[in-house]
Amino acid sequence: MDFCLAFGSIAVFGFLAWILAILSIDADLLTIIYTYFGKSLDGTFADKVVWVTGASSGIGEAVSKELAKHRTKIVISARRVDELNRVKRECLELSNSLTDADILVLPLDMTDYSSHQSAFKKVLDHFGRLDILVSNAGRSQRANWEEIETEVDKQLFDLNVFSLLALSRIVLKYFYRVGKGHLVVMSSVAGKNGIPFSASYTASKYALHGYFACLRNEIASKNIAIPVTLICPGPVFSGFLKEAFTAKKDQKFGQDVPSTHKRMSAQRCSYLTLTAIANELEECWVSIFPYLQLTYLSHYQPYLAGCVWKWLSSSGKAMKMRDGRESIQKVE
Ligand SMILES: NC(=O)c1ccc[n+]([C@@H]2O[C@H](COP(=O)([O-])OP(=O)(O)OC[C@H]3O[C@@H](n4cnc5c(N)ncnc54)[C@H](OP(=O)(O)O)[C@@H]3O)[C@@H](O)[C@H]2O)c1
Repeated sequence: MDFCLAFGSIAVFGFLAWILAILSIDADLLTIIYTYFGKSLDGTFADKVVWVTGASSGIGEAVSKELAKHRTKIVISARRVDELNRVKRECLELSNSLTDADILVLPLDMTDYSSHQSAFKKVLDHFGRLDILVSNAGRSQRANWEEIETEVDKQLFDLNVFSLLALSRIVLKYFYRVGKGHLVVMSSVAGKNGIPFSASYTASKYALHGYFACLRNEIASKNIAIPVTLICPGPVFSGFLKEAFTAKKDQKFGQDVPSTHKRMSAQRCSYLTLTAIANELEECWVSIFPYLQLTYLSHYQPYLAGCVWKWLSSSGKAMKMRDGRESIQKVE
C-alpha cells in the first residue's frame, strides 16, 4: 500500500512538473535540455559548409548570422542580391575569423528549378563540399479558406514545398555519394496545427512533414547517417507578413508585424534552430506561449487541441494571438 502511494505520488508530481516545465519554456523540452547539455555550437559548426536559403531577411538572416559567430562557411541564397550583400557584410562584422571568401552570396529564385543544379555546382566549385542544407525560403498566407484561388494553392506549394523538394533531391544525391550530410527544413507550428486563415500555407507545412518522414525511413534503409531535422517555429519577428500570400493570385498581404506584438525574436529562434541541428534532432518546436503548448496538445491530445482551437477561433482570439488584430484585414 505504502509502495503504491509513493509510486502514485511520484507519478502525479512528475506529471505536474512536466506540465509546469512545458508552460514555462519556449521550445520543446528536448531542445531546451540540449541548450544546456547538448553539443557546443562552436564545436559543431566551425569549418562546416552550410547553405541557407531565404537568407536575405528574417529567420534565414538570423540563422546565417548565428552561424557566422561559430566560424561556419556559409552560402546565403535568396532573390534580393542587395539584401544578401548586406547580410554578408553583417555576418563578417559579427565573426572574428571569417574572410570574404568564407561567405558565398548565391542569388537563387527557388521556383526556378532549372537553376538549382548549377547553383549547387557553384557551391561545390567554391567550397569543395556541402555539409548542411537549411531549406528556409518560404512565404506565409492570410486568406479566408473559401476564397483561395487554386492558382494561389499552386504558387504557394511551388515555393514552400516543390522547390524545396527539388533542391533537397539534388543535394541528397550528393550526400548519398559522399556518405554524409544533414538536411534541415524550416517548417512551422502550422505544420502541426490547423491554423485558421492560412489554409494553403498550413497544408504546405504539413506536406513537408509527410515527405521528410518518408525520407528518414528511406535513408535508414540505406544504413547511411544523414539526419533530417524539421524546425517548427511559432510566431517570429520577420518580414513574412508583408510578403504573405492572400487568397488572390500574385497578391501580397503587404502589412508590417506590429512591433508591440508578442513574437519570438529571429535571433532566439535561430539559436534554438542551431541547437536542434547540432544535436541532430528530428523535430524541434520553437515558440512563445501558447503555440508551443498548443503544439504539445495537438501532438499528444488532438481531440483536446481541436476543442481549444475552436474556442480560440470562435472568440476571435486566434487571429489576435497571431497578428495582433482580430480578423484579417482586406487587401486592396
Ligand atoms: N516568421 C514566422 O513567424 C515564421 C513562423 C514559422 C515558420 N516560418 C518559416 O520561416 C521561413 C522564413 O520566413 P521568415 O519569417 O523569415 O520570412 P521573411 O523574412 O519574409 O523571409 C523569407 C525569405 O525567403 C526568401 N524567399 C521568398 N521567396 C523566394 C523565392 N522564390 N526564391 C528564393 N528565396 C525566396 C526571401 O528572400 P527574397 O525575397 O530576397 O527572395 C526571404 O529571404 C519560412 O519558411 C516560413 O514559413 C516563419
